[in-house]
Amino acid sequence: MTLIRVPQSWEISENQITPPEAYFNRRRFLKSLIGAGIGASLIPLNACQKSSSETALANSLKLPKLTAKTNPAFSQVDRPITEEMLAGKYNNFYEFGGTKNIWLKAQNLPTDPWKIEVTGLVKNPQTYDLDDLKKKFTLEERIYRFRCVEAWSMVLPWIGFPMKKLIEAVEPTNDAKFVRFTSFYDPEITAGPSFHLGSLPWPYQEGLRIEEMANDLAFFALGLYGHDLPKQHGAPVRMVIPWKYGFKGAKSIVKVEFVQQKPATYWNTLVPNEYGFEANVNPNKPHPRWSQATEKFISVGPGLSWEIKETLPFNGYGEYVKDLYS
Ligand code: MTE
Repeated sequence: MTLIRVPQSWEISENQITPPEAYFNRRRFLKSLIGAGIGASLIPLNACQKSSSETALANSLKLPKLTAKTNPAFSQVDRPITEEMLAGKYNNFYEFGGTKNIWLKAQNLPTDPWKIEVTGLVKNPQTYDLDDLKKKFTLEERIYRFRCVEAWSMVLPWIGFPMKKLIEAVEPTNDAKFVRFTSFYDPEITAGPSFHLGSLPWPYQEGLRIEEMANDLAFFALGLYGHDLPKQHGAPVRMVIPWKYGFKGAKSIVKVEFVQQKPATYWNTLVPNEYGFEANVNPNKPHPRWSQATEKFISVGPGLSWEIKETLPFNGYGEYVKDLYS
């Protein structure tokens, strides 16, 4: 078993924190820009992205139907929806390993039964199972842009409910200023054979200001592409915060806690100078090791390929969230 040593931020090289495929692809991407010019390239990545088995992958996506009305305010964006078979094999879920190709290992995630505890500074603490969530909250579909801090992006059709509905249900007290979200963690299950978890700040946790959680865009997803959420995407319930980098969207949520102080979060604890707490998508603020001005938009298969697109401030959702940051 490989022991991952967490280096000091000043000694991290790009390929230590970013999964190797993303690292090498980024090198190719930068090279291609020199020859092709931004916006013109559609770069095939088949050489790097061999899926173990398309049939097994398709099976991992064959899940009970979950349908809901599409919210007309979020029924389309200016880009096509990413093909499901691409989104389902290009994931970040570090509990199951440090590469993009963790979809198979993620099938070990036990999702039934599932409980989410909603606790902390609230008047009505609750513990919900999945059926409770589906009954209590009206589900809707929303098509959102998704932007990873590694400068790749997709468009995904989520099914779930706005986080503000949970706030209404549990009634935070006036002392509640932040919210901490905790992902499932069991080192017996989540540690892949080549991925030692001991020295990393598990469980994966994320946080929001309570006003951010109350924003109309902030969403809990229980489904994707018209069915239950696949395990590789963070079944059975995950956060979706479309104006922030993807790492803010913690997967497989087991606990939501309303707290007074800003909570410590996974990536911010690990590499604070690279992954801020706020993490709003911002093309004008480069990551210390790469530009955020453009992104690699992944949409069509059968092989993995991308188009270079300009990154939009707040990932295109400025009109909804700008008041949060004035
Ligand atoms: N949540 C947990 N628990 N563990 C993770 O490793 N990765 C984050 C986020 N949520 C992660 C997580 C990152 S870096 C990204 S980009 C998105 O999940 C990826 O979501 P996707 O695999 O569904 O595209």
